[in-house]
Amino acid sequence: MTSSISLATEIAGNKLASCLYNASGPLCSTTDELNAIGESAAGAILSKSATLEKREGNPSPRYVETSWGSINSMGLPNEGYEFYAAYSKHSANYNKPYFMSVSGLSHADNLLIIQYLADFTNIAGIELNLSCPNVPGKPQTGYDFEETHRLLDMVFAQSKLKIGVKLPPYFDIPHFEMMAGVLNKFPIAFVTCINSVGNGLVIDTHSETTVIKPKNGFGGIGGDFVKPTALANVRKFYTLLDKNVAIIGCGGVKNGMDAFEHILCGASAVQVGTCFMREGPSCFARIEQELKDIMQQKGYSTIADFKGKLRTCS
Ligand code: DHB
Repeated sequence: MTSSISLATEIAGNKLASCLYNASGPLCSTTDELNAIGESAAGAILSKSATLEKREGNPSPRYVETSWGSINSMGLPNEGYEFYAAYSKHSANYNKPYFMSVSGLSHADNLLIIQYLADFTNIAGIELNLSCPNVPGKPQTGYDFEETHRLLDMVFAQSKLKIGVKLPPYFDIPHFEMMAGVLNKFPIAFVTCINSVGNGLVIDTHSETTVIKPKNGFGGIGGDFVKPTALANVRKFYTLLDKNVAIIGCGGVKNGMDAFEHILCGASAVQVGTCFMREGPSCFARIEQELKDIMQQKGYSTIADFKGKLRTCS
């Protein structure tokens, strides 16, 4: 019986009955979409990245699924930060934490939004997005270590809420070490690894065109293809960051074994993006049952039994 197996976890001082929930991006922009996550088996609700102003985003086609994952260049379509702050009151109908993703188009925007959110007691934490690859002319802050340091200096000087960061994927060991060196200077509650692998290019050979329209076809890559990169980022930051920082794994999770791998690398919670977009909110109950079945076969009853315990082969 898997009923004695618990997927419970804790992020930023909040208890989650399940360690699985949605990645910011797909199906988390409108009240109906957020409610559907609330009603699902997801352990938390995470909003679409909010900007200061409401945005329509980039022209379509801007999201395409492939056999190995997805490419997107949405361009931050969202209702604006006041909408997602107000939703926090409604989120109290669901017995799970509500996290808000913040992705201001400038440091000043991020600071203004974070200051405004301080009074919203139903916001369990802010996922500060340092890694949106899809706004033309706006670099990914997470690839500039000094800029990240400057932003976090200002954010933590004023923030009352628990703050985590959503990072882009890194591919070079010194880059992991430099980013961890910056993050370890601040009281960061959690780190989400990874955002999409930025600026990939997917081609339709029949029409000899790109499959998405914005940025001449360049967009963030998600799904199966990014899992090894996501696992590497979870593992590296788990080993490099202070032990009180929770790592949230995101990238290539479509079944219980994928979630198991993220947790083995050190993830305290696991987000689902491309698969959630394809399958909708029922994916959480399915992946949770698959993860519980794996835990039962292996003799684990809580995620603490195997979190971070990846061994190197001999
Ligand atoms: C978008 C994409 C991202 O990867 C992200 O972190 C934020 C926003 C987007 O295009 O909407």
